[in-house]
Amino acid sequence: MSPEELSEARSRVASAQAITVLTGAGISADSGVPTFRGAEGLWRSYHAEDLATPEAFERDPRLVWEWYNWRRELIATKQPNPAHLALAELERRRPDTFWLITQNVDGLHRTAGSQRLSEIHGNIWKVRCTVCAVITDNHETPLPLLPMCRQCGNLLRPHIVWFGESLWEEDLRRCDEVLRDCDLLLVIGTSGVVYPAAGFASIAKETGAMVIEINLETTPQSGLVDLSLQGRAKDLVPLLL
Ligand code: OAD
Repeated sequence: MSPEELSEARSRVASAQAITVLTGAGISADSGVPTFRGAEGLWRSYHAEDLATPEAFERDPRLVWEWYNWRRELIATKQPNPAHLALAELERRRPDTFWLITQNVDGLHRTAGSQRLSEIHGNIWKVRCTVCAVITDNHETPLPLLPMCRQCGNLLRPHIVWFGESLWEEDLRRCDEVLRDCDLLLVIGTSGVVYPAAGFASIAKETGAMVIEINLETTPQSGLVDLSLQGRAKDLVPLLL
């Protein structure tokens, strides 16, 4: 990344009318939360179809809860890093023209202070009843294996969008709106292979937004974006403010 590219990105952030941000596991990698793909990604050691699908949960809810419990315990020890904090600061500076879309379920954006956000894949600190569908915040670590709903006594599941499940309608509507309304989209730390998020840069470009990608490496999206900044999110995102 050249100084000119960084300086162009800074001036775009300063002059944008409306900013939307899409984040993925790479932004939390700098806090020590494992990513999904790449050399040390979770999907190298675990099979998504055994752990992150409705069928897996039906087959073996204990195994699925064991895996989520392990991730909850790991994430509970992590803190937001300068990239999360910079995005919370960007929102504070322009609350009416900022929206954050995250694929991350770790809750670190909220801990950093972000409030105008859609957690489109859910949140690992929320549980949902498989019968009465009530969603509750839950920070117990470890959870009892097979946690039960306090309202109706039935099995709880993580409030996560698993493979094969659709995103929530309200999130999809909000994402479509903020992608079409923004004139700058920042795409930070995502491999850009999981839909619908992988299509978000195209939606923003269709309506004329500039798209800036921040990632350690090139991704399938890099050819489509206007500016691709390579480096760690924790180093680069704070420089944009
Ligand atoms: P991935 O693990 O697929 O991709 C992480 C991306 O972050 C890669 O492109 C890395 O190059 C980049 N990266 C790693 N460290 C970085 C750093 N320090 N700074 C900047 N970039 C860095 O994660 P996602 O794209 O978020 O779904 O994956 C999308 C979805 O797939 C996840 O939400 C998850 C997964 O299956 C669910 O859990 C539902």
